[in-house]
Formats: sequence, structure tokens, C-alpha cells
Amino acid sequence: MEMLLGLADGPLKGKGLALGPGVGWETLALAEKFPQATLMGVDYDPGQVERARLNLAARAALVPRVEFRRGDAATLSFPAATFDFAYELNVLHHIRGHLAAIREVRRVLKPGGRFFLQDLSRRFFLPGLRQLFPPESLFTRAELVWQLEAAGFGVESARGQAIIFIRARRR
Ligand SMILES: C[S@@+](CC[C@H](N)C(=O)[O-])C[C@H]1O[C@@H](n2cnc3c(N)ncnc32)[C@H](O)[C@@H]1O
Repeated sequence: MEMLLGLADGPLKGKGLALGPGVGWETLALAEKFPQATLMGVDYDPGQVERARLNLAARAALVPRVEFRRGDAATLSFPAATFDFAYELNVLHHIRGHLAAIREVRRVLKPGGRFFLQDLSRRFFLPGLRQLFPPESLFTRAELVWQLEAAGFGVESARGQAIIFIRARRR
């Protein structure tokens, strides 16, 4: 979470999209830290969405600025240019055909909107681990940077080998 926050070079403001927020911890923490942000979390798993909603309900002050919905990152239901920023924490490697999710994030971001990514790379999933926790998608940092650029993002910073941290801006 701190590393993901390190990607933001200032306070987050406006409408933010969380891909795969799970039970909502990072989204609730971001909402607490950035009172000028309104956050929408989209997770594929209805059980996770339910738990995220319960965690949100326990923080009444955040309810007006945070929502969790069930949905698929690869086919988002929002109109184009809805969000000021988007983020994902360990989600793209769970999505088979993660390029569709990258394209969707670009579509729903406003021009100039930021996309913050923290994910696990091909170097994290060494063969033994790969069998224990099979990822749906595998990529290196260089591949992910190339995929983001090809989808219409400018990559502003990229670091990490096993765990990748990227800040990109929608062109
Ligand atoms: C490893 S968890 C990460 C959860 C949270 N971001 C965190 O770091 O604690 C991956 C999450 O991605 C969600 N997910 C997987 N495929 C998805 C998809 N196609 N669209 C949206 N969410 C998805 C899963 O349901 C799960 O909650």
C-alpha cells in the first residue's frame, strides 16, 4: 500500500476507479487519506463485494464517497472518460486476457488521467510458485510497460522486478 501510494506524486482528487479491490482495504485507506477523492471499486467476486460493503458500512464517514460494485474489469459498465484516476493492487495477474482490462481502464479514464499499478510479475511466479498459485496472466515489467504504451498510456515511472510498480497517464 505504501509503495502504491508512493506512485502518486500528490494528493489524489476527483473520481477514482479501483480494479479488483477485494474486501476493500486499500480503497478504504485511500478514501481516508484523500478526502477530495470519490472511489468506485469493481470486483468480479460477489463475496468480496459483499465483504467490502460491510467494511465500508463500518466506516460511516466514508459511505458518501465510496462504492463497491460487482463487475468485470475487462468489460466495465461506465461511460468513456468517467474517472480522474484508476489503480489496481495485485489484480491484473488474476485476469485472463488482462489486455482487455488495460484497454477498458484507458477508455473510462479522462484524458490525462493516471493509472497506478502494483502487480506481481513473471519473475515473482517462479515455476514452483506458479503451480501452487497459478496466475491467469504472466508478464514482466517491460512487457506490461509495452502493453500500457500500446493501449494508449504514457508510462511515467516503472520499477521493480518481482513486484512491479508503474505510474501511467492516459494519452
Ligand atoms: C489478489 S486479490 C487483490 C485484492 C486487493 N486489491 C488487495 O490487494 O488486497 C485479486 C482481486 O481481483 C479480483 N478480480 C479477479 N478478476 C477480476 C476481474 N476480471 N474484474 C474485477 N476484479 C477481478 C478478485 O475477485 C480479487 O478480489
